[in-house]
Amino acid sequence: MPAPRRIILDTDPGQDDAVAILLALASPEEIEVLGIVAVAGNVPLALTARNARIVCELAGRRDIPVFAGCDRPLVRPLVTAEHVHGKTGLDGPVLPEPTMPLAPGHGVDFIVETLRREPPGTVTLVPIGPLTNIAAAFRKAPDIVPRVQEIVLMGGAYFEVGNITPAAEFNIFVDPEAADIVFRSGVPLTVMPLDVTHKALTTPARIAAFRDLGSEVGRAVAAWTDFFERFDKAKYGGAGAPLHDPCTIAWLIRPGLFSGRHVNVVIETKGEFTAGMTVADWWRVSGRPANALFMGGIDAEGFYALLTERLARL
Ligand code: RIB
Ligand code: CA
Repeated sequence: MPAPRRIILDTDPGQDDAVAILLALASPEEIEVLGIVAVAGNVPLALTARNARIVCELAGRRDIPVFAGCDRPLVRPLVTAEHVHGKTGLDGPVLPEPTMPLAPGHGVDFIVETLRREPPGTVTLVPIGPLTNIAAAFRKAPDIVPRVQEIVLMGGAYFEVGNITPAAEFNIFVDPEAADIVFRSGVPLTVMPLDVTHKALTTPARIAAFRDLGSEVGRAVAAWTDFFERFDKAKYGGAGAPLHDPCTIAWLIRPGLFSGRHVNVVIETKGEFTAGMTVADWWRVSGRPANALFMGGIDAEGFYALLTERLARL
């Protein structure tokens, strides 16, 4: 059994972020969570920093350091998504306010210091919200860029088109300038776009399997997905909700569940109607070098079986 992948989760919980955090914490053989950094995204930073701690306490992991990162994108005003995630960002179940404190210091400094301290190539960054913290860390400390083992991110879309505008997926749309820094960084990138997450849809049976775990975690995940899916079912017509963010963690645990293609991906930062678009050169016509493993396929049954099996451990 190889050593666990050591990760920093950068997140804007968000019900699907919460499930990703739980999946990571439930998989110590494959994943060691060095820390969690909250970013403004689905809801403002004060709430994402609160929500990340709620999830850690739900998993019984008050030992995980949770930092507050950036409270707004690099240059643009913050766009949030309460219409999807509810006012708190974790609407669905009623859970107690967190009692664990935030870790001291800024989340960007935690990313910089961890990458400087740990041996090169031993820390993976897993951003599942806007890429503001990652880009800010790279700008503040360019020396850390070659030390990153891999970035496994949820964001972008190509064949699936956008979910917040006709052209852009939310995480990239909120901070296109940050995404541009990350996609130009040269760090090995694995991208989980809507092209794959929209194939990982909840169903009544899959949600019932969460609830049937009979645990507080199972009940919370069922209530989150119940709440989370109402928006997507109304928008896309009733097939269920895509569990976006856990796809990154499932990749780290069982990469065989996914399929994709190494292609060039650039970020549109200027377009009046296309800002935040991930321009994926799927058919390799641009001549630009491949910089990302851009996912397109998933074994959805296998994904939900893994997720349910691991959540049962908490
Ligand atoms: O577009 C989906 C992404 O935006 C997910 O990460 C979800 O949590 C929101 O942040
Ligand atoms: Ca997210």
